Amino acid sequence: MSASCARLPTLLALSTLESLAVLSPNQLSSLQHIFPADRLHLDAATCERYGQDWTRYTTPQAAAIVFPVSIDEVQAVVRWANVHGVGIVPSGGRTGLSGGAVATQGEIVVSMDRMNCMDGFDPLARTVRCQAGVVTAALQQFAADHGLYYPVDFASSGSSQIGGNIATNAGGIRVVRYGMTREWVAGLTVVTGSGDVLECNLGLTKNNTGYDFRHLFIGSEGTLGLVVAATMRLTDPPPFTTVLLLALPGLADIMAVFHAFRSALTLQAFEFFSDLALTHVLAAEQSAAPLAERQPFYVLLELETVTPLQDEAVLQVFADCMAQGWVCDGVIAQSQQQAKALWRLREGISAAITPYTPYKNDISVVLSRLPEFVARLQGLLARDYPDFEVLWYGHIGDGNLHINVLKPASWALADFRHACEQVNEQVFALVAEFAGSMSAEHGVGLLKRDYLGVTRSAADIALMRGVKAVFDPNDIMNPGKLLQLDGSDT
Ligand code: MLT
Ligand code: ZN
Repeated sequence: MSASCARLPTLLALSTLESLAVLSPNQLSSLQHIFPADRLHLDAATCERYGQDWTRYTTPQAAAIVFPVSIDEVQAVVRWANVHGVGIVPSGGRTGLSGGAVATQGEIVVSMDRMNCMDGFDPLARTVRCQAGVVTAALQQFAADHGLYYPVDFASSGSSQIGGNIATNAGGIRVVRYGMTREWVAGLTVVTGSGDVLECNLGLTKNNTGYDFRHLFIGSEGTLGLVVAATMRLTDPPPFTTVLLLALPGLADIMAVFHAFRSALTLQAFEFFSDLALTHVLAAEQSAAPLAERQPFYVLLELETVTPLQDEAVLQVFADCMAQGWVCDGVIAQSQQQAKALWRLREGISAAITPYTPYKNDISVVLSRLPEFVARLQGLLARDYPDFEVLWYGHIGDGNLHINVLKPASWALADFRHACEQVNEQVFALVAEFAGSMSAEHGVGLLKRDYLGVTRSAADIALMRGVKAVFDPNDIMNPGKLLQLDGSDT
């Protein structure tokens, strides 16, 4: 599929529907045999709340929300869905940004909120068994309480759940050092779209026994089945960390700064944001600017150090970058509190711009091509987005840029989206030219589905459909997300 296909006409039509989807009496009574009344919700408020994620581009239209407490119940609802031909939307913390966990077609939302236990801590293997509904921050805290570390982190850690992180292969702020969620999954229990329970990889370090279904389910966005539990790896915490913020006159030399720091020190994070992004965070959080003078771009670095503050080494690289003219100012956190405050400037961006219903592009290219890509993209966006506020931020040390376009209050959502999709044609053509990804970490979901062909070949997509048909032959698992089983999206 080319990047110029028609865009999601069904979503716009659905957004006009008002009534809640309704189950037949027969469907409802058989569902009531699986779930007691307090774990089967049909009311409009719950259906609305659980029928959407952090995106606001679709209208929730869930038929019911169920809260299983066991794998048996998950299996039972999947079998029920197959019998009745009703779709299932797996639901974690609903912090997704691509419409991967929205229910827009009368699906049953299966929330993992009640399956949130951690057990089976193995200090020797350094793993812990988590049910899918364990919140990311709870796993991080569990690790810390045992002198260990779970390094996958993002602004939504307080509400995102491990099952959702796995289903979307969540990335976040320390990918440059620790990789994405995939790296931390030693074992996975899933219920497939056919209702089979699979134990994938059994928490083993070595297991060369053919196809590793664990990796197929990681990042599958709930289209093959539901993640119900996982054995998560933990590691040593970093001895010390140093956080600094640098101001840059432009993006041209940002990768030179990255290279300079990475060559001399251990980078845990290398994030960037534009001054416009900073303006929005400062306004939303009512905080003061971190540096005396504003500059067009900022880089936030977190360095792993062996002493509390490796000032000399850090200052040396900083001085070199200043001498080169790559950096014009900077500040180093002198305490945990200051480090947190600097991180807020980056992590607070997403929440700060949420009221503007941002249109999000989440793209990546390989690091060596990033400077040229960024230069081309800057020219393109300046030319094609003259009327909107366009914010740049993201995980530039991973080659990952988040381009957020803010909706002017006077614009209708559908018109705004349409305008952004026009520019997408050019953006994605550039991404394709640079052999990049149209969705680096947010996933494809519903909102980016019709752009899959920017990054995946026709042969890839045909095989993906074949894989889905094997695990979910009746297309009940998160139907319409990532791809259409019947090929109607191509
Ligand atoms: C981030 O990097 O802040 C997250 O991916 C959220 C976002 O892009 O808005
Ligand atoms: Zn991000």
